[in-house]
Amino acid sequence: MAITKEMQDAINDQINAELYSAYLYLSMGAYFADEGLTGFENWMRCQYMEETMHAMKMFNYVIERGGRVELKAIDQPAKTWNSYVEVMEEVLKHEQYVTSRINKLVSLSRKLEDYASESFLMWFIDEQVEEEASAEELLIKLKRVKDSPNALYQFDSQLATRVLAPDVVPVIMNQAVN
Ligand code: FEO
Repeated sequence: MAITKEMQDAINDQINAELYSAYLYLSMGAYFADEGLTGFENWMRCQYMEETMHAMKMFNYVIERGGRVELKAIDQPAKTWNSYVEVMEEVLKHEQYVTSRINKLVSLSRKLEDYASESFLMWFIDEQVEEEASAEELLIKLKRVKDSPNALYQFDSQLATRVLAPDVVPVIMNQAVN
């Protein structure tokens, strides 16, 4: 059964929100690059790719359900922040906001008795638990090391090791995962 227009439009809005998330994290990556914190920059680049993957998961789903993807303008993200802690506080706040949006999408799918969409969205429910947890962990660690240049340098080196999850590119390219 083809997706309803109401659900299609709601997922299209979420594609925009995910792409904004990608844009926001990319801007944060540029900020950290400018600050010489290449590990934080790397973490944000990975986050940018993950958000792009989230958007593309939805993009693929709308098409698979016989709907029409509509891409909208992406808001301009901030360019600079007052402190590293402020950046990570914004990441956490933003992820909490995204969680509330995903929850609303699930409510809508239930109201429309669109069980395929409900099932599809469950992946995002789980993903948001992870997204909030990793942002919170990073924020707590950053608060601990922020006043010690040595500890901050070590933390930055740890973040430089983050690599993309293996399913990111196949989803973006709409390819099967082995
Ligand atoms: Fe796509 Fe970080 O939520």
